[in-house]
Amino acid sequence: MKITVVHMFLAAAAALQTLLWCTSGLDIREVRALAARHNVSCVLIFGDSTVDPGNNNFLSTDFKGNFVPYGRDFAGHRPTGRLTNGKLPTDFIAEFLGLKSIVPAFLDRGLTMEELVHGVSFASAASGYDDFTANITNVMPFSKQIEYLRHYKAKLAKLLGVKRAQETINNAVFIVSAGTNDFIQDYYIEPQRSKQFTVAQYQDFLANHLLQDINEMYRVGGRRFAVVGVPPLGCLPLVKTLWGEVDCVTNLNEVAVAFNRKINSTLTSFIKMLGPDARAVYFDIYSILLDAVKNPMKYGFTESSKGCCGTGMIEFGQSCKGMGTCKDPSKYVFWDSVHPTERMYHLIASYGVTRDVVKILV
Ligand SMILES: *[C@@H]1O[C@H](CO)[C@@H](O)[C@H](O)[C@H]1NC(C)=O
Ligand SMILES: *[C@@H]1O[C@H](CO)[C@@H](O)[C@H](O)[C@H]1NC(C)=O
Ligand SMILES: *[C@@H]1O[C@H](CO)[C@@H](O)[C@H](O)[C@H]1NC(C)=O
Repeated sequence: MKITVVHMFLAAAAALQTLLWCTSGLDIREVRALAARHNVSCVLIFGDSTVDPGNNNFLSTDFKGNFVPYGRDFAGHRPTGRLTNGKLPTDFIAEFLGLKSIVPAFLDRGLTMEELVHGVSFASAASGYDDFTANITNVMPFSKQIEYLRHYKAKLAKLLGVKRAQETINNAVFIVSAGTNDFIQDYYIEPQRSKQFTVAQYQDFLANHLLQDINEMYRVGGRRFAVVGVPPLGCLPLVKTLWGEVDCVTNLNEVAVAFNRKINSTLTSFIKMLGPDARAVYFDIYSILLDAVKNPMKYGFTESSKGCCGTGMIEFGQSCKGMGTCKDPSKYVFWDSVHPTERMYHLIASYGVTRDVVKILV
């Protein structure tokens, strides 16, 4: 009798906890405690410029951000290769999980063991789920990023032994963030893909590649995955300029919503097939970014239609090089015509960690 009551209480408490996560989210301190309790070891990051801390510095590509004004508000006002004024969302996520406050680029040869063990990024600005996207700009496709994950695991094994290296990967939080370049650069700007696929077919094509990539990461030992959706593509200042619109391009936002919905639904069923110990969550960046663009005041922003670099309507990467900037980037949603400011990234990270990432920690 007593046991039944306790069980009922625990079930009710668990339900309440789930309800709280779904509605209000945990606070950052609770997330950190949860991550520690569940042995979260490190973050391993894959994708594009939203999560590349400077891997492209080591590649022969034009797609870099290792010059001013990038890094204007980074520690030491130093350009690092991050395509924003300060830190990336993944730097904040690692911090919120209690691991480290800056996630380095794997291709940086100077990394210490400590830096390696608590997480690295394999991401490459201008990359995408479609290998052809990376090929256009000569950056690292996902296949290459995953090859480097295998190198990473071998390095860890040398440092920690095979068993602890395996445990570290098993307990890592994998973060995957791409898709924007596939749609904008590859599908809409280059002629090839749009001749081969309708946009709905291309979404399926990308989603299938994403699942194959997750499968590869699982085979290397990944068990916890957070997949970041695409932002409201039609609201990026560059896209509005290229499409000749003042407001967000509705049809591109619809493409983003449809793709995100596809990721959200296929991810859940796919991960169950991989194994009982695998968990994956869709990390929603779309909702908060759209809300900030539509209601900037709500978040303390004063400018949400153009970036802080140059005119804010066209410059990013090389074309932002040496440009003047707005006075206070923390009042801007976008840093350049494509990428959010550090402050917007901080909001995205806290929103996504407390609502989404928290679900794969336990
Ligand atoms: C965390 O690691 C410790 C020591 O290896 C282990 O005893 C414990 O069961 C692990 N906890 C979880 C939730 O995996
Ligand atoms: C990239 O493009 C080059 C030139 O078109 C081609 O030779 C190469 O096979 C491509 N690589 C991939 C991975 O698609
Ligand atoms: C993702 O899918 C789940 C389950 O179907 C749903 O409850 C949730 O609202 C979806 N998330 C978004 C942001 O669409």
